[in-house]
Amino acid sequence: MSEQLPIAVLVSGTGTNLQALLDTVHGREAEVVAVASSVAGAPALERADARGVPTAVFARAQYPDRGARDEALADWLQERGARLVVLAGYMELLGEPFLECFPGAVINVHPSLLPAFPGVGAIEQALAYGVKVFGVTVHFVDAGVDSGPVILQRTIELPDAREPEEVLAALRPLEHALLPQAVALFARGALRADPENPRRQIVDRPAAQTGEG
Ligand code: GAR
Repeated sequence: MSEQLPIAVLVSGTGTNLQALLDTVHGREAEVVAVASSVAGAPALERADARGVPTAVFARAQYPDRGARDEALADWLQERGARLVVLAGYMELLGEPFLECFPGAVINVHPSLLPAFPGVGAIEQALAYGVKVFGVTVHFVDAGVDSGPVILQRTIELPDAREPEEVLAALRPLEHALLPQAVALFARGALRADPENPRRQIVDRPAAQTGEG
């Protein structure tokens, strides 16, 4: 195995996606070198503590504005040596100056089949629309809201779903598979933009994995 990619994970809540990363790619393709939360006391922080990963809280209210928060956050992640930033249930927007600190190296997991239902309450939006097929997207982060190039997507048919909790429970395993898979692909240098359409990410997979995802 070649060198592990140092990654930072940003969280705001429960941290089940962080846990999936800690249980799969951490210590293999990647090393989680920092976990930052926008919310003090988020359960995700305990998951990082349990694995000895350094944590910090960058709450919006601690800073005069979002830019100052982003700067402090980027400084800490760079001090920790992060080369990929993974948003795993991080419920804040990041400005362009932050993204410029990690060019092409910020990814997010979102609980819908983008470009449908970006932003907060994706599952509630999908239920309100009455869709029969739900999905998960892992994508690069740009300055828009859930608008960056798609890395991986997966769907699930839930024609009778009514409650957000039910949909979330069905989407969890998809997220927990897709996000670590995207991190591993990034760490292996297996993602590249299609020169004919830079929004389209070409995934170079080992022969045995062709057809997955
Ligand atoms: C996940 O479902 C993730 O897709 C979603 O928050 C949840 C976090 O769960 N993210 C967004 O909605 C971002 N727009 P977790 O804290 O258990 O990983």
